[in-house]
Amino acid sequence: MNSINHVAIIMDGNGRWGLEHFKSRNRGHKEGIKTIEKIIKESIKHNIKFLTLYAFSTENWKRPKKEINYLFSLLEYFLKKKINDFIKENIKLKIIGKKFLFRNIFKIINFCENKTKNNTKLQINLALNYGSKSEIIDAIKLLNKNKIQITEKKISENLYTKNIPDPDILIRTGNTHRLSNFLLWQLSYTEIFFVKKLWPDFNEKDFTKIVNTFRYSKRNYGKI
Ligand code: FPP
Repeated sequence: MNSINHVAIIMDGNGRWGLEHFKSRNRGHKEGIKTIEKIIKESIKHNIKFLTLYAFSTENWKRPKKEINYLFSLLEYFLKKKINDFIKENIKLKIIGKKFLFRNIFKIINFCENKTKNNTKLQINLALNYGSKSEIIDAIKLLNKNKIQITEKKISENLYTKNIPDPDILIRTGNTHRLSNFLLWQLSYTEIFFVKKLWPDFNEKDFTKIVNTFRYSKRNYGKI
């Protein structure tokens, strides 16, 4: 049986869900928060140690300003609502991405990271303003600058995800089969599950089914 340390998720389909149900993409993002809450609880039940959620990519800046502003107000609402639960439930929050760009919510992000930094039950990595290619380039630049020889280990140690094991499972909802510049280095040996459901429709049962499928799958890592 495979143990599961780390699940990463591309939470796709909020916009379509919102348009289908309420003629509003933003309404879909709001609904997406409920799924995040369900999946955090379910991850703890399965004793998963790291949950990485793709919340905002470097490419998402191309969306209409109104939607970007809404996503950030939702993030602020989410962090303020959840911080006490995270503290109580021993959950650590870490942001991966270029976080210095979010001036308005910088304070609350730092506050949440600081308050939860010693927690050990589950680590939630929120990928914000995240782009995998620029993450890899930044790591290589840093190694070059410090005249450190480039090896797999050294690159891994200089990504935003240093000290985080590579994901065992990647889930992408929303019936789209691509990686969208997410954790390209870290996903080398990850089992990928594409789910037809839109993120707001994804639930605990769907998550558990994937976790169980993974637990009993055979992983060869290039061997036979
Ligand atoms: C993808 O759906 C989703 C996003 C770009 C944002 C994910 C954000 C949330 C789940 C809510 C806010 C997050 C936090 C952590 C507070 P899409 O908009 O690309 O959907 P579509 O493919 O149907 O257009």
